[in-house]
Order: sequence, then C-alpha cells, then structure tokens
Amino acid sequence: MVSKVVILTGAGVSAESGIQTFRAADGLWHNHRIEEVASPEGFTKDPALVHQFYNDRRRQLLSADINENAAHVALAKLEQHFAGEVLLVTQNIDDLHERAGSTQLVHMHGELLKKRCLGCEQITAVTDDLSVESVCEYCNSTAQLRPHIVWFGEMPLQMPRIEKALLQCDLFVSIGTSGNVYPAAGYVQLAAGNGAETLELNLEASATNSLFDQCRLGLASKLVPEWVEELLSQ
Ligand code: OAD
Repeated sequence: MVSKVVILTGAGVSAESGIQTFRAADGLWHNHRIEEVASPEGFTKDPALVHQFYNDRRRQLLSADINENAAHVALAKLEQHFAGEVLLVTQNIDDLHERAGSTQLVHMHGELLKKRCLGCEQITAVTDDLSVESVCEYCNSTAQLRPHIVWFGEMPLQMPRIEKALLQCDLFVSIGTSGNVYPAAGYVQLAAGNGAETLELNLEASATNSLFDQCRLGLASKLVPEWVEELLSQ
C-alpha cells in the first residue's frame, strides 16, 4: 500500500499546453545558448539579453493561449483525493501546476512570475517585463532585479525538503523530464536506494530510464490521468 508519493515533473508535462521543452529538436536550447541566458555569468555579461529571454517566456505564459492540461489537472486531483502524502517537485518555472490546483509543490528551478533583488534579496511577484532600468520596490535600487530562476551553477531551491521527502517516500514518479540535469536526475537513485518503487512516465525514455522499476511511454495528458486513477483506486 503506497502512502507517501514524490512526483518530479519536467518540461514534458507542460508541452501539450504549448510551452516548448528544452532539448527537443525545436526546443529552447537549440535556439539559445544556455551559458548566455541561463547562467549568472551570462547575466553579468549581458543582462538585457537575459531579461529579454525571460520576458518572452513570461509574456507567452501569461497569454490567453496557454492553459493547464489534463496532466496538471490529474496531479492536482491526486493531491486532493489521495489518502496519503503527495509532494510535487517541478523543474518547470511556469505556474500551470498551481493553475490546476496543486498546493504541495516545490519549484526547484524557480518561478517565471517572481523576481529577486540582488541588493536586498526580496522575492516579489512579477507579471510585466523586467529590464536593467527596473527599480526594486523594497530598496529602490536600480539594475539589481533578476528573474527568480535557478541558473546553471546555482543551487536548486528547497533541497532539504525535497531530499527528506525522497528518503521517506514509498513511490517516486518522474514525469516528462529527460534526466539530463542534476540533482533532479539523481532523485530516482535516492528514492530507490531507500526502498521506494519508481515509475517513469515520459514521451521518450529518459537518460536514467534503466534505473526505474517501471516505465510507460506516451503523452502526459493520457498517461498521467490513467496512473492517477490507478493510484486513487488502490
Ligand atoms: P527536456 O527538454 O530536457 O526534456 C523534456 C522531456 O519531456 C523529454 O524526456 C521528452 O521526451 C518529454 N516530453 C515531451 N513532450 C511530452 C509529452 N507531451 N508528454 C510527456 N513527455 C513529454 O526538459 P527537462 O527535463 O524538464 O533547467 O529539463 C530539465 C531542466 O533543463 C530544465 O528545468 C531547465 C533545463 O535546462 C534550467 O533552466 C535550470
């Protein structure tokens, strides 16, 4: 009987909502250099370029075309109806899990709709574009605001909470992530090493696929609702 579940989601869970993944042939990392737009060094070198990259992502996320899909909705339903504990850990910076109703949620790579001031460290909401002229509403400094996103070389957020849940869970499920970016790609080993069952739901097998007990390949909008119904009827 499963009582504690940790779910890791990646870009694949939002793909059917119209948000590009990173490593597909038409993915974000084919048109942008990671070190230019997703590293602290890139931001120091050309903050305007980095702001533009995330401003584009934010505008798209807030456009009327982008909505949560059946996979996000099913995961929110699981949290609401499951008798045990569910922690959803997402690498995604969109807010589609929240829009679907998930609340037990960790954004380990940050959030597109938040900004952080490098001067006073305040984290606040943002829906408009950011620029080098943006002024922090807390400390009034200029050119100190950055997207609240974890870049390459930076520490993912809330790691102690995530690791504790991974070591206590009896089921770990990875959904729509390619298994290329650590530490998230190592969660399967951490959970399995402590006796958890492990399941991958993905369009294509991930780089860490052989570490999972079970794998189902297909669209998240189909696989996730099916799996949620199975778990709720156990
Ligand atoms: P990737 O682009 O690396 O992988 C997306 C995964 O989703 C692949 O395994 C696809 O097969 C799968 N996929 C695509 N469409 C799907 C669908 N409709 N249903 C199910 N699966 C689908 O994205 P991530 O693994 O999330 O980090 O990338 C991890 C991190 O790398 C991101 O958080 C980001 C990136 O660099 C930072 O920017 C720090």
